Amino acid sequence: MADGGRIVLRPAPVDLDIGGKQIAMSGFNNSVPGPEIRVGQDEMLSVRLENALEEGTMIHWHGIRLPNAMDGVNVLTQDAVIPGGSFDYRFAVPDAGTFWYHSHYLSLDQVSRGLFGPLIVTEHTPPDIDQDITVQLFDILTDVEGHFESMFDPSHYTTEGRLGNMMTAFASRSDVKVGERVRLRIINPAVDRVFRVTIDGLSGLIMAIDGMPLADPLPVDELVIAPGQRVDVIGDVVGEVVLSETTLVDPIPLTRIAISGSRQKRVSPIPPLPLNRLPRPGPVSQSVDLVMQGGAGGPPHGGFGGWAFNDVSGLPRMPLLAAKRGETVLLRLRNETAFAHGIHLHGHHFWETDINGAPTVLRDTTLVEARDTREILCVLDNPGAWLFHCHMLSHQEDGMATWLQVA
Ligand code: C2O
Ligand code: CU
Repeated sequence: MADGGRIVLRPAPVDLDIGGKQIAMSGFNNSVPGPEIRVGQDEMLSVRLENALEEGTMIHWHGIRLPNAMDGVNVLTQDAVIPGGSFDYRFAVPDAGTFWYHSHYLSLDQVSRGLFGPLIVTEHTPPDIDQDITVQLFDILTDVEGHFESMFDPSHYTTEGRLGNMMTAFASRSDVKVGERVRLRIINPAVDRVFRVTIDGLSGLIMAIDGMPLADPLPVDELVIAPGQRVDVIGDVVGEVVLSETTLVDPIPLTRIAISGSRQKRVSPIPPLPLNRLPRPGPVSQSVDLVMQGGAGGPPHGGFGGWAFNDVSGLPRMPLLAAKRGETVLLRLRNETAFAHGIHLHGHHFWETDINGAPTVLRDTTLVEARDTREILCVLDNPGAWLFHCHMLSHQEDGMATWLQVA
């Protein structure tokens, strides 16, 4: 889509058909997930949000390095769009890769009801592949009658969160041919569930993580994909492509992409995707600790919610840190709780580091396991007030949110 083509996203109540059962949810343009948005790298994306819900909403463009005013965050960047109201989002997309959009207002409820969709930024020179397939991992919590469970058991807030009793994956294609080279863009929009996924039927490599291509693609083993994270795999089809969740003893198939024929397999190896242009970390100008506290079995803390960052629950009046544009900041993410947290920074990607502190991979959401510590390097080059929170939305709702100020 070139500049000028404006997309309309209209969130409204919708019935989702799952296994022949109608589940009352919410969707963009009458669909769960919402429509796949595709835009070329460096082009402008223009989206009008038309709110047809009976409550406020707004849209966040997860992983996109965009101007602060377009970030779709309540209080920090905009007010809720009221029922019947509209808002125009318009920004350039600097990085090619797999991103997604979702409601960022009452987001535990609105995202669990289906207000999310893929945002694909295509390369200037697309890779040589036959199929480009988006797969969104999701879970839905239903009650005994099979209806969407809107009541929320508060004990879920302080444990792993709102885990659905139905796991699924929405794939944008249902068939492939043996021998085809396929790109799978795997996105986890689930509100709280960390998926552990294996892929059968595809012989390939991990090409990108959180939208950012890897200089050295990695072998595909079990993929651990926390809420908000993405993994791109490119591979050659060798059989029915099945993605399975492996946390339980017996793997649960999430989606099957059937075989509809065959073609001559490519002999060429899979080349890496072109890298996006991000600034490399400079000398560290400040180091800041983010201590995750609370939850069932976690240490006491000074916040009022079930969870806290640095003894505060919910958005503090002052930012976690204030930086000048371009500064490299080291954040020490210290998880003192008994649960894993997927920590997401808005408006930037950051580097995970190895034990020597050297940058490894770029991410916008990093999973910190229970009682573990992870250091990340952030080149804060995007001015504004940026939300920094746990993307397990139950945890965010119950306290795990702060923000960074970049002048
Ligand atoms: Cu994907 Cu603050 O969100
Ligand atoms: Cu969390």
